[in-house]
Amino acid sequence: MELKYEDIIQEIMNVVWPKPLKLFTAGPVACFPEVLKAMGFQMFSHRSREYRDLHKDTVLRLSDFLEVNDSVVLLFPSSGTGVMEASIRNFVSPKGSVLVTVIGAFGKRYKDVVLSNGRKAILLGKKLGEPVLPNELDEALRRHPEVEAVTITYNETSTGVLNPLRELAEVVKEHGKLVFVDAVSAMGAADIKFDEWGLDVVFSSSQKAFGIPPGLAVGVFSQEALKKAEEIPERGWYFDILKYLKYQQEQWSTPSTPPIPQIIGLNVMLRVVDKMGGKSAWLRMYADRASKVRDGVRRLGLTILAKPGYESPTITCVRSPEGIDGVKVYEMMRERGYELAKGYGELKHSSFRIGHMGYMPKEYINEMLTILSYVISELRGRENG
Ligand SMILES: Cc1ncc(COP(=O)(O)O)c(C=O)c1O
Repeated sequence: MELKYEDIIQEIMNVVWPKPLKLFTAGPVACFPEVLKAMGFQMFSHRSREYRDLHKDTVLRLSDFLEVNDSVVLLFPSSGTGVMEASIRNFVSPKGSVLVTVIGAFGKRYKDVVLSNGRKAILLGKKLGEPVLPNELDEALRRHPEVEAVTITYNETSTGVLNPLRELAEVVKEHGKLVFVDAVSAMGAADIKFDEWGLDVVFSSSQKAFGIPPGLAVGVFSQEALKKAEEIPERGWYFDILKYLKYQQEQWSTPSTPPIPQIIGLNVMLRVVDKMGGKSAWLRMYADRASKVRDGVRRLGLTILAKPGYESPTITCVRSPEGIDGVKVYEMMRERGYELAKGYGELKHSSFRIGHMGYMPKEYINEMLTILSYVISELRGRENG
């Protein structure tokens, strides 16, 4: 029997597409249906007028969302770590030092990026679950006046802690240093007022709070940082920020081929945000989701790792109950159709994480919490007897 084209495609997709699960992941997260639909559009050249219009409109919308006036928003064909590396290569002198604040795994990654690019890293570390406090940062900067910049993980995805970015940036500016912000799991869910807060570099990835597939990174750069880049001799080629700036200024494009579908996705999402009441309504939606998850988790008698008052709006790290392996919770939830995130790094077995980013209809959270209550009771039962 001859197979029809549609049957062949279906047969292939049955293999290529994984079984659909309800995602409460750390990213990639579930994408908004309107984004997936828009991304299926036929391609066009990144040197065409159509692309220029898309690029310009997306940059202007994102600038508005992040309250950027004098600074510059750029788009990158990479994940967020690309721009993390670019921040060091473009804005720190070849043998210069950076104060790296570490509250979890992604602060550690920033340290590795600093060291692997031949710069020195001075660490300000905190116990897992805690944020960096302004007085601690002030003290560290007094001890290390030689540093050129400070790195801050706005939202530490491994612990579910939101750093007090605005206050920390104020301290950095009092010391006259540059401030680089990893906002990968924060942008789109936690407020960022780029110019008002005196930030110098902020970057994020498409696969987190904007609910878009991976492959696009965005970065914002202050005029002070851009001026500093002019003094750095070897900024590399692929992530030379001044080259990106030139292409954007001259032709609203990028030096190498951009991820056009993801940029369409971001443009659509920023329009959706507008239609849903603008930035403040959008951030409130994220805050409501997070508190619903936290309340539900507490009702099950579980505790949250983050220090009270610093809980993340995008991901909740839950301590596994005594004697219960967090990976087991993850696996049993997955068998029941809900993909959470495992604990990260040294927290792998003692915690599990619930992401609340991207496409997530309201009823999903209640459903997930109900299934989680069954899983926890079953594991508690096994533990007791
Ligand atoms: C806080 C944080 N920083 C950096 C990264 C790395 O981002 P990417 O995978 O987009 O390079 C992640 C990814 O989960 C993250 O959560």
